[in-house]
Amino acid sequence: MKAPRGTFDILPDRIGRWRRLETVVRGLCARYGYEEIRTPSFEETSLFKRAVGDTTDIVEKQMFTFPTGGETEEEFLTLRPEITAPVIRAMIEHNLLKQRGFWKLFYIGPAFRKERPQKGRFRQFHQFGIEAVGSADPLLDAETIFLFADILRGLGIATFEVRLGTIGCRECRKPFRDAVRDAAKSDEARLCANCRNRLDRNVLRIFDCKEERCREIASGLPKIREFLCRPCRDHDEALKAALGDRVPVRTDDTLVRGLDYYTRTVYEFTSPDLGAQDALGGGGRYDNLVRELGWSEDVPAIGFAAGIERILLAMDAAAPKEDAAARMDFYGVAVKPDQRETVFGIVDGLRRQGLSGTMDFEGRSLKAQMRSANKLGARFAVIVGEDESRRQTVRLKDLRSKDDSSREQEVKIDELAQKLGA
Ligand code: HAM
Repeated sequence: MKAPRGTFDILPDRIGRWRRLETVVRGLCARYGYEEIRTPSFEETSLFKRAVGDTTDIVEKQMFTFPTGGETEEEFLTLRPEITAPVIRAMIEHNLLKQRGFWKLFYIGPAFRKERPQKGRFRQFHQFGIEAVGSADPLLDAETIFLFADILRGLGIATFEVRLGTIGCRECRKPFRDAVRDAAKSDEARLCANCRNRLDRNVLRIFDCKEERCREIASGLPKIREFLCRPCRDHDEALKAALGDRVPVRTDDTLVRGLDYYTRTVYEFTSPDLGAQDALGGGGRYDNLVRELGWSEDVPAIGFAAGIERILLAMDAAAPKEDAAARMDFYGVAVKPDQRETVFGIVDGLRRQGLSGTMDFEGRSLKAQMRSANKLGARFAVIVGEDESRRQTVRLKDLRSKDDSSREQEVKIDELAQKLGA
């Protein structure tokens, strides 16, 4: 049997990289004042329809949706294709905004999209992300971008770029949308069926269409910048001033995101090392979503999510070889089967003093046990033979030392833990 298409197993030889990434994310999120939140892997389907948007590719084509018995809308569940909507749903459900007006939350976990798998694109993938809810300050937009950049740098990824755009607010988007619709209608016959269908429902999705002809038409359509209202323009300028040159930014007013909830700031972090799926992550402001999901008033917010698999690919490109850190403190070795019980006692005692290690459970030869010690990345081999057993000692072999004279020494059992650094 095989793992389902578009999914994968994370085997022990890769787990070190995943853990390192998670440690850096947790550390930097804490440094920036973010608290962790965890939500379920699935939600009511209507949440994503409402938040991400009925006419987006994610909702139209990519959701894993299943009935729970009945046929009504509430009786359908969907594996979360993203985590912003669930986080906002949780904040509303638990009245967090009544406790405090401003929240910084982060998450790490799986998300699911029914896409055609390829390099960097999976059906179950993992995201880490942040949501800062309760402020419209452009300095906050800048701070989220700094945090994303710091995480990448903390992971050794130096070559990335931030594509930064703005898509205006409810006020200025309306005249923009009308202008785009008028212009697109004059080319209606050349649009793909999907875009023709969306002309009246959500014409701005033309900018997200992958069809060559639609992209050509889209490039000639009006641009948002011509329509931005004063407050949106001020916001954009304040953000750019705050960013300074701390991160490599490329302004891109054609940037469209695959989700409908954005207002004003949108951005994507890209890597030149990734090929076609080059977005390490993306995000932006969503000043209307909290209210749309049921809160009594508008609460401005911003966040991003990053694709962990893609960040690992970029880490691999930056540093293909991981430093081999010792994976355990010791490996207990019995010279003869007679000493296995003694070794078992010593191994148990060392663990109880906080050291990590294991021993052979397959009845293997001395040579094979030493091979295992090396393969498992043990720092020391703790070897017990007949003489040592009698003298209440062990031979301690430093598997890292290149110097033969200091490599091996006889150590009393009751001094062993201290020697191993407990
Ligand atoms: P998104 O751009 O849809 O945004 O996804 C964020 C990142 O998730 C992408 O840039 C990519 O790295 C990764 N990703 C998406 N789909 C896949 C896939 N099929 N396989 C592998 N990686 C994938 C969001 O999800 C928004 N919730 C971000 C956000 C948070 N906006 C505001 N707050």
